Amino acid sequence: MATVNDISKSVRRVDAVSKCEGKAKYLPDIDFRDCLWARMIRSSVPRGKIIKVNLPDLPSGYCFVDYRDIPEGGHNYLHMIATDWKCFAEDEVRYVGETIGLLVGPDRTVLADLIDRVSVDYEEQIPAVTIDEGLACKGGAFVNGNNIHCHLKIETGENADEVFKRCAKIVEETVETGFQEHIYLETNGACCCPEGDGYVIYASAQCPFYIRKSIAPLLNISPEKITVRQTVTGGAFGGKEHFPDVLCGPLLVAAHKTGKCVKMVFDREEDIENSVKRHPSKVVFKTGLDKEGNILVMDSKVYYNVGGYLSSSFVVLQRGCFHVAGCYSFPSFRSEGFGVATNTFPSCAFRGFGAPQTLFAVETHMCHLAQMQGLDPLEFKSRYFIKQGDTTSTNGKVVEKVMIPQMLEQVLKASDYRRKVKEYKIGSGRGIGISFYNHGGAFTGNGEQSLIKAHCRLHKYPDGHVEILCGQTEMGQGFHTILPKIAAHVLEIPIEKVVFEDPDTSRVPDSGPTAASRSTMIVGDLVEKAAKLMKDRYSKESEFEIETEYEHPEGYPWNQDTFQGYAYLGYGWGVCAVEVEVDPCTAEVAVKGVWSSHDGGHPVDELIVHGQVNGGVLQGIGWASTEVMENTDGHFRQTSMSDYIVPTSMDCPRQGVDLVDNPYEWGPFGAKGLGELVFNGSGAAYIDALSRAIGKKINAIPVPTEKVMEYILHGKKLGEAD
Ligand code: MTE
Ligand code: HPA
Ligand code: MOS
Repeated sequence: MATVNDISKSVRRVDAVSKCEGKAKYLPDIDFRDCLWARMIRSSVPRGKIIKVNLPDLPSGYCFVDYRDIPEGGHNYLHMIATDWKCFAEDEVRYVGETIGLLVGPDRTVLADLIDRVSVDYEEQIPAVTIDEGLACKGGAFVNGNNIHCHLKIETGENADEVFKRCAKIVEETVETGFQEHIYLETNGACCCPEGDGYVIYASAQCPFYIRKSIAPLLNISPEKITVRQTVTGGAFGGKEHFPDVLCGPLLVAAHKTGKCVKMVFDREEDIENSVKRHPSKVVFKTGLDKEGNILVMDSKVYYNVGGYLSSSFVVLQRGCFHVAGCYSFPSFRSEGFGVATNTFPSCAFRGFGAPQTLFAVETHMCHLAQMQGLDPLEFKSRYFIKQGDTTSTNGKVVEKVMIPQMLEQVLKASDYRRKVKEYKIGSGRGIGISFYNHGGAFTGNGEQSLIKAHCRLHKYPDGHVEILCGQTEMGQGFHTILPKIAAHVLEIPIEKVVFEDPDTSRVPDSGPTAASRSTMIVGDLVEKAAKLMKDRYSKESEFEIETEYEHPEGYPWNQDTFQGYAYLGYGWGVCAVEVEVDPCTAEVAVKGVWSSHDGGHPVDELIVHGQVNGGVLQGIGWASTEVMENTDGHFRQTSMSDYIVPTSMDCPRQGVDLVDNPYEWGPFGAKGLGELVFNGSGAAYIDALSRAIGKKINAIPVPTEKVMEYILHGKKLGEAD
């Protein structure tokens, strides 16, 4: 598809050589002079009152830091989207791993020995761990008198209660998903150094400006007194969107107390046990059909396990509810979302930000509605595909052309789906499944124009170099290549002449977080605009700057109080087919093929997009299959990469990747968001394939081998009602 001058044609990744040669400096590689180390003292109980922290005698140069070290006027909270997560626990703990204090000192081995000798006395309370326990207020409610952190309701079309009255059949079904751990290659780490009358934070993080805003109130200082420098970041996947605040807050207080640089790096087990995860979910559908089996109304209750503190979860839940209609349009639709308080580690951002859970749920429910009627899921789903101009789940309209029919054709052809569906009989051990999904690009509703108001700057230097100044981060998704490429293409200069460094908040304007798949479609667009403004002056003027600011297109209203209007202006769209074979003796599942087609607008770099597809699709299959993260008593049971199993390239054959070229009106070179989309649907396709292969109905993920065996032996037949 790409022509020579087409921006889609791939270039060598800007960060490839330094990373491959081992020259890129990650946080642990940086030598901070005269630096102290910190270790976290955390709650070992899921719920209780802290009676006493017992410390061993600390050698000279070592100290303990806790909430009492926050200076007068400081506020012991992390200012995330909500402000309820404490920096240091005071008298109450709500989850295992909650920060109580830091042990700080010059020698890591001494710290390791000291930390083993710290003990905390608690008055333990009964924890609520699962969604059901949270809803039942096991041990007594600890949030809002009912353990509901947050709640919303949306509806479209005719009133659902009225429609149910005339339905010939009503189908109720529950679909559940589990925790997922990010397993970024690099674990969390940060360092805080006093400098001048402020502080400099170095962190492996997605959102430097978030950190500054979140932790400044601890010392009652303005965010500008804190400079945040992102260090080379080895993957994030949402796990470094807000979570770095949990390290940086205590480190700031420790640097304030000691007057020295204080650094903390988690090892892998510590990171898995004590970091945020994807929200476990439970979606309860009630769907009304007419006598021919057509859907008249789909109603859902969406429950997310939020954990001990709300932090970013209300926005995650909103995205969940907005995506629960999937790629479909129903005559009547209603959804109610509940963020449930439990005594688990607070759940947070993870690729898809709440959308994968409900998309998995609706795809699975649609398959089951079809199979109950003896229909092929594909034929049934096809009746309801949403199109340009149709009403969305929040009563906006779909603005862009939806290419699902073309994408579907492509995937059917590449996968030989129709032949395989006929050939692989239900329960034969082989199966092929297919899923449809989308992802609303950028922040929901008016987030871009009223919360973020992104700014971006280009600086032309006398030697012809152009520097991009913005707060976006590279975390493996390729943004250090994408953004310079956009500027270079517009300016018609070699990409080597464009400089784009890891952000330092004291040097760059705030272009908003690197999240919500917004970097290319929003910030890329600001760079394209700035470069266009720069072009005429580039050869005439020796040194100058151009700054651009986000402007929202007119005519697409959003009401954040009622959740009505245009939740997203541009969606990415996806179709994915997965083929599996199940070993009849061991129940092991082999993925035999994966074919997908994605619409992320016009691709800015085909190879980078292919990388996103390959990784995201496999990560989605992992979520649905081997990635088991159990928590029944408040402790995560899987704490290492030998018991939390993520798929590798050996677990999947080469993927068939198709990209449709559907230029997006407001994106740079027609590009829109894609980074999360690619995660959103492969889990559902995998489970569709697996359930056909074993002939059993699957309503919950993950499904590791031992669960496959259980389904084979005891599961309900596919097509049977609940
Ligand atoms: N790809 C890699 N390799 N590493 C990551 O950490 N994060 C994902 C996605 N792709 C991630 C990734 C998430 S959660 C988001 S929101 C987007 O990248 C963010 O980057 P973008 O705005 O450039 O799409
Ligand atoms: N994704 C990620 N982070 C966010 C979002 C989103 O949609 N909205 C607010 N913060
Ligand atoms: Mo991505 S979950 O928005 O960092």
